[in-house]
Amino acid sequence: MTAINAVTSLAVDGNIAVLTVDSPPVNALSAAVRAGILQGIERCTADPAVQGIVLACAGKTFIAGADITEFGKPFVPPGLPEVQAAIENSTKPVVAAIHGTALGGGLEVALVCHYRIAARSARCGLPEVHLGLLPGAGGTQRLPRLVGVEKALEMVAYGTHVPAPEAAEMGLLDALADDATLRADAIAFARRIVEEKRPLRKVRDLDDKISPARGNGELFAAFRKANARRFRGFEAPEASIRCIEAAVELPFDEGLRRERELFQELMAGSQSAAQRYVFFASRQVWNVPDIGADVPSIPVTRVGIVGAGTMGGGIAMNFLNAGMPVTIVETTQQALDRGLRTIRANYDNTMKKGRLSAAEVEARMARLTPTLDLQQLADADLVIEAVFENMEVKKELFGRLDQIVKPGAILATNTSALDVDEIAAATSRPEAVIGLHFFSPANVMKLLEVVRGEKTAKPVVRTSMELARKIGKVAALVGVCPGFVGNRMLAQRQREAQRLALEGALPWDIDRVLYDFGFPMGPFAMSDLAGLDLGWVRERSTGSTLREILCEMDRRGQKTGAGYYDYDAQRNARPSPVVERVIRDFATRQGRTRRAVSDQEILERCVFPMINEGAKILQEGKALRASDIDVIWNNGYGWPVYRGGPMFYADTIGLDKVVRTLRQYEEMLGEEFRPAPLLADLAARGKRFADPK
Ligand code: 3HC
Repeated sequence: MTAINAVTSLAVDGNIAVLTVDSPPVNALSAAVRAGILQGIERCTADPAVQGIVLACAGKTFIAGADITEFGKPFVPPGLPEVQAAIENSTKPVVAAIHGTALGGGLEVALVCHYRIAARSARCGLPEVHLGLLPGAGGTQRLPRLVGVEKALEMVAYGTHVPAPEAAEMGLLDALADDATLRADAIAFARRIVEEKRPLRKVRDLDDKISPARGNGELFAAFRKANARRFRGFEAPEASIRCIEAAVELPFDEGLRRERELFQELMAGSQSAAQRYVFFASRQVWNVPDIGADVPSIPVTRVGIVGAGTMGGGIAMNFLNAGMPVTIVETTQQALDRGLRTIRANYDNTMKKGRLSAAEVEARMARLTPTLDLQQLADADLVIEAVFENMEVKKELFGRLDQIVKPGAILATNTSALDVDEIAAATSRPEAVIGLHFFSPANVMKLLEVVRGEKTAKPVVRTSMELARKIGKVAALVGVCPGFVGNRMLAQRQREAQRLALEGALPWDIDRVLYDFGFPMGPFAMSDLAGLDLGWVRERSTGSTLREILCEMDRRGQKTGAGYYDYDAQRNARPSPVVERVIRDFATRQGRTRRAVSDQEILERCVFPMINEGAKILQEGKALRASDIDVIWNNGYGWPVYRGGPMFYADTIGLDKVVRTLRQYEEMLGEEFRPAPLLADLAARGKRFADPK
């Protein structure tokens, strides 16, 4: 084996050369990798002993794409197109040998090879759309020529990873290999091509898969229509579709130029900057600075859950799905039965959608042990409490668990706002207590706030983060404070939304502004969905808030067919004249004169106080970094990823502008708007939240 440079090497097997990229962690196409491939191909072309070339990768994966860390930095040659041209125009057949994932620029390199063979466990995809981009190295032009327009549209605009067997079926791959024999099979494949004198197949020359779509604008229109909701607000999916249209309608080189133009537009735009930031933020969030590899983790095989209500049941499903046995405890048989019925109904629904087999449903249910006896949790390694949100109830329960559960086990509370330290103090082992704040529906929502108490031991934190990953959550470590990070910031938005409604905006005006900003729904539509009567009791209702008044009128949200909105039988929302009257009357009783409120004011008043609260959270050390706050808002509250997150958004507006605007509102409305010292300080120094401290 001869090294070409630090990250590529050549080995020769008879008349076949194997050009290997070895650039951990994911063989991204850095300048060194590009240079190594280019030189490798040139050497093989010049060597008369070599008749065929296999392009392979060492480590856990084939090339996973362009090197995202190079984006926005000065260009270092050779460019990817030059490398690709060398491969495509090679006079000797080049075969890509794919294992792990061939993604983005990685797949685009494979697409200029003359043939592709992949390990059965491999996956192929063009996920650029998740970075606010499109495949910029010919992917949108070559992929449809191999797999047809419909499949290419899905792969490019959804950014899905396609398993190798399916990719072979589509025509993307020419052969499959066993994982263990990929290299040998790829060499044999290349040798066969040489022996059989098969043509050097260039994907760019193929036409049969795209010609049926030529002139068929309806195909594209239908795809746009079917995905309007999914793509709403995002620029990259539409740009990808336009590239595939170009692939169908234009000569190859013109299509390629179109792709390059649109790629560069996206790369320069704010959405891609935000989405690339989110990519790194979502990886950074797992990193807890004071918990290194020396901190042991606690083996968790048996999970106990107290409470089989909506939260408890949803939480249980996460662990059942991950193959872990769960014991679930309730206080009455009726509640236990109801909880089990809901879990089963959820699984049955997934099965009906074809995403789960009947056997798998049974296997998951079989891992669940229902009981009325708390003593059954004695052997659990982790117990999660999901009972009524009341401090006394929780303290009493933790006191009992302390007596029952074996030493060394983790005791977690799913509280969404209460003081975890106070709950921990009800036990003799506060170091074992942690908050695991799941979001509803807990089997669906990605976010998990891991709440580190004052006394929580490091192994407990580490284990909780690891478990979160195991059950497929995105975990953010937060500190103890009312509402933790997400709900604490949400409370700011809720307060302003209510105030705006009394001052002059109507719920649907406020919802529209936030929906147009990119949230899946506004605060009032969200309240209607969740139920206005969460935590409301008629006997204690004083009619002093809009919500109370509506609950008293039995307008409790979607479930009663009326809340802030009126709902028809299909649960379509309509602005409610009744609510409008209620609001006007209520404002009059409070002596308010309603005024016109602009969309800009609605947005600023809902979002800027959240940013301000985020700054307070950072200042108090309740979140590790600004980007963790953004991860929380992306994954738990539907903050549009193409705007990064509230803290990133503030950076893009400019912190000085945020501070100036907050000060204006402070003058007009009061001290809730006073800029947090950290925010004011960063703004004064011309800094951003994203800047290193
Ligand atoms: N460039 C630079 N670094 C990358 C990278 C890339 N394309 N992909 C992953 N990394 C880094 C990660 O940041 C992480 O770094 P860290 O350890 O310092 O945090 C490390 O590689 C490992 O990544 P993961 O933690 O994500 O590892 P997994 O094993 O869970 O996942 C993966 C591996 C599936 C390859 C996943 O990393 C991934 O999806 N990567 C992005 C793939 C992608 O988007 N490719 C397209 C890039 S854009 C492009 O190619 C443009 C072209 O069309 C011109």
